[in-house]
Amino acid sequence: MKTLATTTWRSPSNIAIIKYWGKKPNQIPQNPSLSFTLNECFTETSISLVPKESKDEELQLQFYFDKKENIAFRLRLLNFFASIQKDFKFLKDYGLVIHSANSFPHSSGIASSASAYSALAAALCDLEVQLKTGKKTNGKTLLEDKKWLKRASVFARLGSGSASRSLFPYASVWGASESIKGSSDEFAIGYESGLHKDFKTLRDSILIASSNEKKVSSRVGHSLMKGNPYANARYKQAHKNLASLKDALKTGDWEQFGAIAENEAMTLHALMMCSNPSFILMNAYTLSMIESIRNFRESSKIPVYFTLDAGPNIHLLYPAAYQKKVLEFADYELAAACEEGRMIHDYAGKGSVKVK
Ligand code: DP6
Repeated sequence: MKTLATTTWRSPSNIAIIKYWGKKPNQIPQNPSLSFTLNECFTETSISLVPKESKDEELQLQFYFDKKENIAFRLRLLNFFASIQKDFKFLKDYGLVIHSANSFPHSSGIASSASAYSALAAALCDLEVQLKTGKKTNGKTLLEDKKWLKRASVFARLGSGSASRSLFPYASVWGASESIKGSSDEFAIGYESGLHKDFKTLRDSILIASSNEKKVSSRVGHSLMKGNPYANARYKQAHKNLASLKDALKTGDWEQFGAIAENEAMTLHALMMCSNPSFILMNAYTLSMIESIRNFRESSKIPVYFTLDAGPNIHLLYPAAYQKKVLEFADYELAAACEEGRMIHDYAGKGSVKVK
């Protein structure tokens, strides 16, 4: 089949320090969130435009995951494309062939929606420019174009809220906050300039307490905030935590950073425990690792902290300067609590890139 235009983007996952949990219609967050962009855990997605077989309005889409046609993902994507078709008029004029693959195993319990939808949105927004100008694009130039980046973040958000934050180098904020200039509920903004240099070397070792499918989807998790009696207090807390995190990130204060990161993680899990129905997303290994991490921090005085997503795996956060000591500790004391000893050592990275 003749390819009329094509592009490939690589986009990383991210780890939220201030958590997005709870949303309004149209993927508008109930509170602002801040995340670090990862590097090693990424999705690579290519979109090729091919001649359309029929002239009708219906979308023509082939979707391959790991080189195999994937019908379940295709159906999810059809819904996404249906919701954005009015914004990307070219979608009805071409057939789409999409190939996608993750750098991390599907069953590692790592959220792939952030990397997947940010790569997809960047690829779509790139094709849109190619078709408009009739020229090949340069990934770097696109990423430097504030309007383009905003548009990519908006459409990443519509796919998955956390995906809006993955396009940016090092760190990003999504959701309107009085303490962050330029922040918006519609799109994320880069937060590199708010970071002390030590935070640019943030390490995130992901300790796999279980690789099982998530017990509760993000969609259901977010919706449970609606009936949660602590919801409003939580949204207020997120604003307050973001304001103090901002100071910690600026001054390089790991202790304050860590206290906020752990408080946010525990709050997220506590909210799930007291939701109706209630969910316990940690397992016994998660708890035992948290205990070990806190003991190690106390006795070694090394600034090592944790956060959690909506699952049992631990994200161990620490500065690069302590990597050797932390990894020794992890191998010696935490590996036994990880499924088959599995850990993924990641670090703050530079965000989405176009692949040549
Ligand atoms: C706990 O972005 O996966 O990871 O918008 O429904 O796709 P949807 O949700 P999603 O939620 C992420 C929740 C979180 C916290 C965070 O990343 O901020």
